[in-house]
Amino acid sequence: MTRNPQLDMKAREILERNDLGGYTVPTHGLYPFQWNWDSAFVALGFAPFDMDRAWQELETLVAGQWADGMIPHIIFHRDDAGYFPGPDMWASGTTPPTSGITQPPVLASIVRQLWEQEGAAPDHPRLAPLYQACLRSHRWFHRFRDPLGNGLVMATHNWETGRDNSSEWDDALARIDASRVGAYQRRDTGHVDAAMRPRQHEYDRYVAILEFGRASGWDHRRIADSGPFRMIDVGMSMILLRANRDLLVMAEALGDAAAAGELRQQIARAESGMDWLWNEEVGAYCSRDATTHESSGLVTNASFLGFYAGVGNRHQQARLIDALERISRGTAYLLPSLETGSRAYDHRRYWRGPIWLVVSYMVAQGLAEQGHADWALRIASDSAKLIEQFGFFESFSPETGEGSGGADFSWTAAMWLAWCGR
Ligand code: DGY
Repeated sequence: MTRNPQLDMKAREILERNDLGGYTVPTHGLYPFQWNWDSAFVALGFAPFDMDRAWQELETLVAGQWADGMIPHIIFHRDDAGYFPGPDMWASGTTPPTSGITQPPVLASIVRQLWEQEGAAPDHPRLAPLYQACLRSHRWFHRFRDPLGNGLVMATHNWETGRDNSSEWDDALARIDASRVGAYQRRDTGHVDAAMRPRQHEYDRYVAILEFGRASGWDHRRIADSGPFRMIDVGMSMILLRANRDLLVMAEALGDAAAAGELRQQIARAESGMDWLWNEEVGAYCSRDATTHESSGLVTNASFLGFYAGVGNRHQQARLIDALERISRGTAYLLPSLETGSRAYDHRRYWRGPIWLVVSYMVAQGLAEQGHADWALRIASDSAKLIEQFGFFESFSPETGEGSGGADFSWTAAMWLAWCGR
């Protein structure tokens, strides 16, 4: 891939413009606060030109960590009436105010990357506090979000998965009673075309799940045991396994033998537990309902995070590559968030088809590590083309390449600077 200094500059300007002082909004208007996994990826984007600012992004994120160890999905450092549901709706009772749910735990993997970029010294001054924050967050996942005891991660709100309206959640959401949800005003569709956002009946259910958590006083035990949404998410499960591997490297470097032992156990548990998500019929890892045990049977971009997590025997990896090949024949650009032609596929609607570069990045990283450099390169070069031709959008159509959702998006700029534009 050839370097493009103009786009490097533009990407950098986007991060600087979205920087509200120590933390970065994903995009102005649509998402005016600090989001958990957005910030982690954004740190990778700052790293090539401002390492101090990269670390700071992660430090402001963990400043919102709860006493029980959860790192929330949104941190409301300051209020903004242009977003729903805002701090009053979540009523976290914390300082700073936050949401009451989490997001995919990519943080430890990104801390490791920054630390290694700076030489991987065990006494690196920024490492220890972030390492501790990650350890507490991973323990929270193992304590509250592993209902089957097999190391896989249960999401208790679809927003936790980051893949908000993936059709993997449709059946679980359809069972949720939204009749008691009070009147509310969505803000997202005032910022971007409603055809690119979740539908109203889905949104009502998102709010109903939120209201259950709030009514419990954000009692994470109660939410896990009897909440209305209990999905074992393939994306979060793969990401936590990967993050545990990365955290283990840091635990060993820091000489934290007790934590290292604990992490090795968790890794072994998830490595053998992951087969519970394997769907032989479709030849991919799919999310599964923790209550009904039904597999979604849908091939999504998260299915391919198996490579990133380092799981799958030869047969499973070969079937995943078959699926990738099949998907690449049906679309102009990789990697769509839902297989073309599958139920509910829509090339413009959020996580029902559009390409999201952060998932593409993790998948490409995993493919390269597992000996599929050709596929990793194909995904990286498609990602670069999307930015070159259409700009730094939130997501992109796998058919036409056109951008969808917010423009001048922080994590897309970060992916350019850290990965596909290099
Ligand atoms: C939104 O508001 O759509 C966010 O994705 C929730 O985290």
